Amino acid sequence: MTSKRVVPAEEAWGPSTTTDYSVCFVVNGVKHRLMLDARVTLLDALREHLHLTGTKKGCDHGQCGACTVLINGRRINSCLTLAVMHEGDEVVTIEGLGSPAALHPLQAAFVERDGFQCGYCTPGQICSAVGMLAEVKAGWPSHVTTDVATPEITLTDAEIRERMSGNICRCAAYPNIVAAIRDVAGGTRR
Ligand code: FES
Ligand code: FES
Repeated sequence: MTSKRVVPAEEAWGPSTTTDYSVCFVVNGVKHRLMLDARVTLLDALREHLHLTGTKKGCDHGQCGACTVLINGRRINSCLTLAVMHEGDEVVTIEGLGSPAALHPLQAAFVERDGFQCGYCTPGQICSAVGMLAEVKAGWPSHVTTDVATPEITLTDAEIRERMSGNICRCAAYPNIVAAIRDVAGGTRR
């Protein structure tokens, strides 16, 4: 009869390779230095380490847009990027866009237009809309832009819907979200 040897975990799996890395970035104007496991996403760094829970975790794999934040002015799904990749970056979350006493124009428009129901998707919708309007201003065409050579994009409702299609709202507040963004963009084209 052969006796089975119990294999210690470190022998079975090899030595732990987990190492924390130092990363320094600016969030909503405040500089933070964190020691993080290299596998921590920016979303988890914001929520679990900096306690900025305005940014939401919906799917955690890039499908819902609830985790959208701005990095150096561009929108990004924070669940799809590792925190340690953002050394020196400027991150803006929903908490950094406005305050209850001084709402960002998009926050005010969402309230005015009733652009939410449960509100879970709203921080991501608003951060995404901020990034999207900057893309339009920069003349970036979308899939529905008819003249991709035009230096000035007309932000029709079709353009808004297409450009915001990465942000899912399970309450289906889409018509009011589009109206809020249209108000801020100053567009009247439907
Ligand atoms: S939580 Fe990041 S896209 Fe859904
Ligand atoms: S308001 Fe509920 S998910 Fe969008």
